[in-house]
Amino acid sequence: MQLPIGDVPVREVVVDLGPRSYPVLVGPGARHALSAVVPAGAKKVAVVTQAGVGVAVETGKDQRTFVIGDGEQAKSLTSVEELCRGFAQFGLTRADLVVGVGGGVVTDVAGFAAAIYHRGVAVAHVATTLLGQVDAAIGGKTGVNLPEGKNLVGAFWQPVAVICDTEVLSSLPPREYRSGLGEMAKYAFLGVPGLSGMDLVEAVASCVACKASFVADDERETGALLGAGGAGPGAGSAGHARPGRALLNYGHTLAHALETEGHYDLRHGEAVAVGLVFAARLARRLGRVGDERVAEHDRVVASYDLPSRLPAGVDTARLVAAMGRDKKATGGGLTFVLDGPEGLEVVAGVGHDDVLATLAELGPGPALR
Ligand code: GLY
Repeated sequence: MQLPIGDVPVREVVVDLGPRSYPVLVGPGARHALSAVVPAGAKKVAVVTQAGVGVAVETGKDQRTFVIGDGEQAKSLTSVEELCRGFAQFGLTRADLVVGVGGGVVTDVAGFAAAIYHRGVAVAHVATTLLGQVDAAIGGKTGVNLPEGKNLVGAFWQPVAVICDTEVLSSLPPREYRSGLGEMAKYAFLGVPGLSGMDLVEAVASCVACKASFVADDERETGALLGAGGAGPGAGSAGHARPGRALLNYGHTLAHALETEGHYDLRHGEAVAVGLVFAARLARRLGRVGDERVAEHDRVVASYDLPSRLPAGVDTARLVAAMGRDKKATGGGLTFVLDGPEGLEVVAGVGHDDVLATLAELGPGPALR
């Protein structure tokens, strides 16, 4: 739906969570609608951002900006403590608002700080990267990394609104933009057809709507823990869980392992792209899909000019060990979201040998540009 918020025309997608439902506003200039989503009664706004983001927001309230560090290293408990101390010194109360302005690092850290400061204050996100707009800022997952792995500490804390200003994407470095396309490519396998033919606003809004439906069905990703017959779209398929939200992690088991093993030269969306083509090959090895489906994964990833091979020098045994520590792993063997005759499913108990053989099949690719 397109509607004006103040004088800003935006598309609105609702994340339907009953009393905690919220709008996602998509469109060029959508950041100017921020003041319209500030909760009534808020007097102060803590804006959390990074030095390089360079997107100014205005709420009309007593507003103070808090700058966190760059990169995944900033997704730390230290950043969260510094923010909470800053909020306290600013006099932020439970009636006030935190606004994360940036990509996934900012919205994850700002969201987690908001979730625990005063045991929870309202947060809104202005997502300034494509990856943030189609994934990270939507759905209330917040958190930080530990040396032992990504996103190991966090909370579900739904925002009061998310703003996806497509205008600001034009100033993203090309590789950062391409990283967002890696998450976008994932939606091609989650039921969003024709993405590559859409204009940017429609593509972002379509991905947001897809994610919103998974989040609404399985907000806390409990479907994956319930097993076959559990909650979520398509629940009840024999032998495998068909949970909702966990399917959004398609391509992510390998991606997170690559990131945990220090391959930060791969952006997150690039790692997801490698994870997608890997998952298709693993599904083929397990007899779940045929060559044509693998080729379709390759085509989608190539159409976005994304990497589809492992980084050179990767230690596959370490990758497998890291996959075993993935917090999606719920039992023996390794757990993946895999394609199959019934579509995507969470498949537990995948053998290390199959995974190692598929990694070998994927092989190292050319250096990234
Ligand atoms: N990025 C996956 C999720 O939000 O569930």
